[in-house]
Amino acid sequence: MSRKILIAGNWKMNGLKAEVSSLAKGVSAKYNNNSAYEMLICPPFTLVANAVDTVKGSGLKVGAQDCHFNTNGAHTADISPLMLKDAGAEYVILGHSERRADHGESDSLVNKKAKAVYEAGLKAIICIGESDEQNKAGKAVEVNQSQVAGSVPDNATAENTVIAYEPIWAIGTGRIPTSDDIQNIHAEIRKALASKLGQSVADGMRILYGGSMKPTNAEEILALADVDGGLIGGASLKVDDFMGIGACVK
Ligand code: 13P
Repeated sequence: MSRKILIAGNWKMNGLKAEVSSLAKGVSAKYNNNSAYEMLICPPFTLVANAVDTVKGSGLKVGAQDCHFNTNGAHTADISPLMLKDAGAEYVILGHSERRADHGESDSLVNKKAKAVYEAGLKAIICIGESDEQNKAGKAVEVNQSQVAGSVPDNATAENTVIAYEPIWAIGTGRIPTSDDIQNIHAEIRKALASKLGQSVADGMRILYGGSMKPTNAEEILALADVDGGLIGGASLKVDDFMGIGACVK
């Protein structure tokens, strides 16, 4: 089953209008729409519409980093999937470990948000990943499988959902798991997807790796059988680093 590699940039709480002109424009100018891989940037909410306008026609896609599970209503400061669709976004990152830690987001909340994302006709990038403590206790597989079971809706498909495995201890630290460990956990995540959604959906669903991915380590990681792209934080904030990761797709 062929899974098109996705190179996705999560800008997190970084970027002003100036970065749309420099970074988003810079990436879109260099991205070749006929590439073997799909490329996506997820700026903060304030920049989504501007980024969509700026990259129009380049093939570079734009997404957001979170959303509410309702379409509209009395939810001060929240942003709905419909609003993101209206702004031109195509993807929404959900359940990032920073949302889970800073805002107490649970698997069931992430699941609810993902269903709302599908309803709006957007695609969800559902993040999972174990803590350092869980990793050291040998619980990585168990934790990630349980997050798949709880966070991924029953109506997830290979078209509307991407999984991002981001070991929390690898985010922004420069520490990454060994390639064997990444491949092993991605294969275990795919097994959990198969038991929830069926083998053919699991075989078609992309599983990204995230955590300290750089042009220097991306080639080895992206070559792993069950790795279908990357969710990139720090290195997505520099045109050359982000494009350098794209260039590692073989
Ligand atoms: P870094 O690439 O900065 O480690 O961040 C990864 C991440 O959290 C992407 O969502």
